[in-house]
Amino acid sequence: MRTRCRAAFALLLALLMASGVSTLAQEPTEKKSSELTADEKAQLAKEKQSAAAAQKKLEATWKTIYRPTHVPDRVILTWNGDPATSQAVTWRTDTTATKAVGQIALSEGGTAHDSLGAKVRPNPDKTKTVPGKTEFVKSDLFEAHYHSVSFAELKPATKYVYRVGDGATWSEWYEFRTPSDKPEPLSFMYFGDAQNEIRSHWSRVIRGAYSDMPKAQFMIHAGDLINRGTADGEWGEWHHAAGWINGSIPSVPTPGNHEYSGFALPKFGPKDPPKGEVKGEAKDEAKGEPKADEPKEGKKVAPKSRLSPLWKPQFTLPENGPAGLEESAYYFDIQGVRVISLNSNERQDEQVPWMEKVLKDNPNKWTVVTFHHPIYSTAKGRDNKKLREAWRPVFDKYTPDIVLTGHDHTYGRSGIMREDNLLTGARVHERGTVYVVSVSGPKFYKLEKEDWMVSSAADTQLYQLIRIDGDTLHYEARTANGTIFDTFDLNKKPKGEGAAAAPPVPESGGALPVWVALGAFAVVALVVLCRRFVIRAAA
Ligand SMILES: [Fe+2]
Repeated sequence: MRTRCRAAFALLLALLMASGVSTLAQEPTEKKSSELTADEKAQLAKEKQSAAAAQKKLEATWKTIYRPTHVPDRVILTWNGDPATSQAVTWRTDTTATKAVGQIALSEGGTAHDSLGAKVRPNPDKTKTVPGKTEFVKSDLFEAHYHSVSFAELKPATKYVYRVGDGATWSEWYEFRTPSDKPEPLSFMYFGDAQNEIRSHWSRVIRGAYSDMPKAQFMIHAGDLINRGTADGEWGEWHHAAGWINGSIPSVPTPGNHEYSGFALPKFGPKDPPKGEVKGEAKDEAKGEPKADEPKEGKKVAPKSRLSPLWKPQFTLPENGPAGLEESAYYFDIQGVRVISLNSNERQDEQVPWMEKVLKDNPNKWTVVTFHHPIYSTAKGRDNKKLREAWRPVFDKYTPDIVLTGHDHTYGRSGIMREDNLLTGARVHERGTVYVVSVSGPKFYKLEKEDWMVSSAADTQLYQLIRIDGDTLHYEARTANGTIFDTFDLNKKPKGEGAAAAPPVPESGGALPVWVALGAFAVVALVVLCRRFVIRAAA
């Protein structure tokens, strides 16, 4: 009987191991070009031809559906000042709209701000008109004007209506609410890379997140919003997917490597800029850049590679970052929370003194940091060692509460962590940082599970909803259909006793796969059975 039990055990273990191996199956190794047979080469050429034809067709579609008109589109709220008292708006038109104007009024139950039927529209007693800026941009598809206006001297915690245009043609009236100027409950959404199939597959993610948290104060996009930073059609898909949500809830974007135009560069820059109130232009500085689907991580960005010329025209962001990284590295304070965007694509060392100052001189109870490349990678074969060595000591010293990243096209979330915790596995600090890597689009990499992960996922589109209320930060990661996948609470301890308590084990979707749990159950059951047989045999 003992022999039979041993054999059963061995079989079960072999099955479990085989199951594990299949879960972590290796990617098929790619052959070198010289190793391909003639048939394989022909097949490859055919596939490339077909992909090029599909891309051409897609670009023709983009040219049709995302062509700018004189009516404002791509309307998006961002901040470039104090969120409690200011609001920036950016939008796009064709080049016939040569002027930028914004109108803003307190939100009322009716149309008092825009007296329908009155002689004067809008009502000058209710509505303030603010001049904006206009910038000409020639992209790979279109010549367009990007406009922006900054509404200032707003009242905190107040609902406003606004519209933008050139003074003759206007957007619809949108509505937003300014945050309070005091610490108050705050909620926001966070998205990892959208990047691919944005119109077809990412749209439901942002719309689902909005339907779950329609009163969110802002939305963090942790880089790689699109696949090719210079592809206007992809930006068209991104704005289309979010639609009027972008005009109602401010966005907080941080650039990823795909916003850096080191690949697939179109020619930018006006040949014959239209006359009128055109200010600024985007020049083609990157001819001859190597084409690649994705720049390799850990390698320096090519010297000529730079943030997409479409980034600054379409996002009006704080300019309080290190010199030269304005509108990509920045911070703002909102209702007792400091939100910091870092630019992980370039000049990582140079950002350290700035980052240290922003983390040190911080009167807020909570600190949220976002950037693109993760400090701790979740995808197989990826690691941003240089970035980790540069930034992790600063995070360990000042322990921001949560760091929100993307890039690895998988999901991984730590407990409260500092590097020495990770190395020893024994010393438990009361202070530390929760690190998250997430993905919202449909491109996935293979997950590589690590000890630091409390929760992880592969092949899953996710969005995150975060609520901060007093001493508690509540976090939820939800799948594309709204199912809660991972959740935890961070609880601040009384002043001077550390930043936050350890998060509980997630309610669902933890790092432990179902087959491991089933396997463990089977082993226990087998042990009990075998013992019973052994006892009977002995008797
Ligand atoms: Fe990336």
